[in-house]
Amino acid sequence: MRAAGLQIAPSLLAADFARLGEEARAVEAAGADLLHLDVMDNHYVPNLTVGPMVCEALRRHVRIPIDVHLMVEPVDALVPLFAKAGAGMITFHPEASRHADRTLALIRDHGCQAGLVFNPATPLDWMAHVMDKLDIVLLMSVNPGFGGQRFIEGTLPKLRATRQRIESHVAQGGKAVRLGVDGGVNADNIARIARAGADMFVAGSAVFGQPDADGGYRGVMSRLRAQAFEAAAPELRH
Ligand code: DX5
Ligand code: ZN
Repeated sequence: MRAAGLQIAPSLLAADFARLGEEARAVEAAGADLLHLDVMDNHYVPNLTVGPMVCEALRRHVRIPIDVHLMVEPVDALVPLFAKAGAGMITFHPEASRHADRTLALIRDHGCQAGLVFNPATPLDWMAHVMDKLDIVLLMSVNPGFGGQRFIEGTLPKLRATRQRIESHVAQGGKAVRLGVDGGVNADNIARIARAGADMFVAGSAVFGQPDADGGYRGVMSRLRAQAFEAAAPELRH
């Protein structure tokens, strides 16, 4: 049993930052399920992006959930600020929190869905003792900090292993946990990623780098969704 349906989450990191509200509305109109907001602090990753104010500003432009990916260290102090700013989901890297279980509980206590993000080298064991606190596991298929990188093929076996862990968790009565992939996802590899077990796909440059003639994103979003849909497990096809 898996979380319902497939989700595509355009990553705003690849959007035109001078027109962020417009870009967010455009991908929502093109069928985006979530808006992926990459928060980078130039400490946990060698890049600096946005804070809660931008999440709050985006909240006024779209109705879909804002999926806040915290690439920050420490994590906890930012959780209430992003929750108050309208985040629907907050994910973080377990290595960046002294107490990942407490941080997951903090996210949920603030009314947001909670998840862990695994860098390519981060072992899956970090999720072993907190499965009951996870709404999503997000696997990085690039090293975090930048958009436009090449998908790391070595992520696919890890993705299959993660799908196994989630399925056995559910088989033992646990709640379905969404499984996302983030980094280098595009129309050429999304089918393989779906076949390997993902049901949520973050895509930045593959979306914002390929606008339709009218400047919208319906074309690229439907191509991504169609490719993922074709390859996904039957129970996800809705
Ligand atoms: C990288 C970010 C990703 C990135 C994805 O650290 O977490 O969300 O923006 O961008 P693309 O799809 O261009 O790799
Ligand atoms: Zn991200």
